Amino acid sequence: MEAKDNVIDTAETKQSIGRDWKEGVLYQLYPPSFKDSNGDGWGDIGGMLEKVDYLAELGVSAVWIGPVCDSPMEDNGYDIRDYYKIHDAYGTMEQFEELLVKLHKRDIRLVMDLVINHTSDEHAWFEASRSSKDNPYRDYYIWKPPAADGGPPNNWRSFSEESAWELDERTGEYYLHIFDKKQPDLNWDSEAMRQDLYEMIRFWLEKGVDGFRLDAINMISKHPDFPDAPQDARHPRGQQFYKNGPRIHEMLRELHEATFGRYPGTLTLGEAPTVTMDEVVRYTAPERKEMDMVLQMELVRMGKDFGDPWKTDPDWSPAMLKESVVRWYEEVFNRGAYALYLSTHDHPRMVGTLFGDRAGVGGTEGKSCNDAAAKAIGTFLHTLPGTPLVYQGEELGMPNANYRSLQDYRDKGTVSAYQRRLAEGESERDILASLHARSRDGARSPMHWTGGPEAGFTDGTPWIRINSQAKETNAEDEQNDFSSVLNHYRQLIRLRQQSPVPARGDLNMLELEDEWLFAYVRAAAEERWIVLINFSNQSRSCRIDEKWACLIEQGELLLASGLATSGFPKSGIPLQRRGDRKDDCMLDLLPYQSAIYRISAAD
Ligand code: NOJ
Repeated sequence: MEAKDNVIDTAETKQSIGRDWKEGVLYQLYPPSFKDSNGDGWGDIGGMLEKVDYLAELGVSAVWIGPVCDSPMEDNGYDIRDYYKIHDAYGTMEQFEELLVKLHKRDIRLVMDLVINHTSDEHAWFEASRSSKDNPYRDYYIWKPPAADGGPPNNWRSFSEESAWELDERTGEYYLHIFDKKQPDLNWDSEAMRQDLYEMIRFWLEKGVDGFRLDAINMISKHPDFPDAPQDARHPRGQQFYKNGPRIHEMLRELHEATFGRYPGTLTLGEAPTVTMDEVVRYTAPERKEMDMVLQMELVRMGKDFGDPWKTDPDWSPAMLKESVVRWYEEVFNRGAYALYLSTHDHPRMVGTLFGDRAGVGGTEGKSCNDAAAKAIGTFLHTLPGTPLVYQGEELGMPNANYRSLQDYRDKGTVSAYQRRLAEGESERDILASLHARSRDGARSPMHWTGGPEAGFTDGTPWIRINSQAKETNAEDEQNDFSSVLNHYRQLIRLRQQSPVPARGDLNMLELEDEWLFAYVRAAAEERWIVLINFSNQSRSCRIDEKWACLIEQGELLLASGLATSGFPKSGIPLQRRGDRKDDCMLDLLPYQSAIYRISAAD
């Protein structure tokens, strides 16, 4: 492969960066909200270039950058109009290439978002496709005649809560859109369409891109009969007929062979909601050559009602968190691969979801609770089996944006849910409370770079309101504060680089009587770690097996966190031996306290 201007040879880069993908830490950068360099209020590549050193100091090994291709921005770039062009508001192709070079020089790989389940309805393929029934691009998308009553071909609903079909007057047929009507689904049964996509992917691989996060990738194969779903099916209705469909594995293998497989070392990270563990293994077993990893999407959805994303699951408990962690470990860890994330651009931030109400006491105390909770989350993320994926701002302990009126929201799905619920008679107060708890805009407020105007994100007016908490929680202040959330994350990432335990170790989740307390052991080669976390805002105690108590006492404290302290008191050990009985040993953890102990295998 030839080196192009400004671009380093891909094979050479991938080898020099070297480490197994699974061992690193991935970072998700959400382009509109990362950093604006030209004052238009919208994040851009110029802003990313300014912050490469920040990412290098954090220590992440790869950055997944949300979609930056040309788009009408109905869904912040997940609606691509031209796969070969950088969206004007983000900058130019030259800047993108410069970013690639700069990241590579700092040993950081660049993972692009690949949105290939659908395009924008403004993509040239769709414009041709809708123009007539016999246009050569007609079958690039999924068209069906109306049902006998003139309505949509079946009863599937899209993620935007309406029918998944849109009638196009020009030809009198409906097209399928699993997401918004501005995002028509591509027809993966069309050979010509697939070949065009592969060519486009090779274009980016030739530039030296190191990997792809594959958007909604388990939705590309639809049931050939497009059957109706049961009326009471969970949201979004019909998903059993387009997720993990009949040709999915065949399609992924062909995709791999035509693209990524030709560029060894390329990472593919699949977004595959609603999968069984066996399905995950089929997607990611290395010998099957489909994808390298899938995103573990259960933890990030914790606390949400799966049937209605706007509601809280009344049955949620921390025991479900433990169950999910153990199930993925036991059924996938040694057979396939997954990345773990606790926050992302599609869900409110975990620090708000899990701890929001309990941590939200306001003022200095509130800040201290928020930060302790954020550190506990960080400890959890970096010490579990699975590759950690940190979402921008999580490493600062950024809370959810404090949006309180409809005018603050930008996400189309959020706005349409508000309107629907208002029309159904719900009170505005209740709707706004649930948007605050559940809207993905809560996690999309711009990065807090400084405590100054617009959080140092832009010199102009930001596209979405800045969180007022930027004054207390921002990168500038945290850089030099040893006890900050940022430094906790830096240390966690460093620990992962120094030991095989977090990336490769076995997991043994200890059974404790208190569901809010987590204690687990990770073991690899000559080393074991014991991780202790209190996920509640109360001090908690429960009995712990004598064997583990002794090991904790002998262990070396690698990292600790808790309320308004960067560690445990000098005595160091969160244990109490009560009475005379040797086995009467209690684990005592302060609110949001976390600790990692190292024990050598000989102990
Ligand atoms: C998943 C992306 O993460 C989300 O933001 C987007 O709206 C949908 N896929 C549609 O592309």
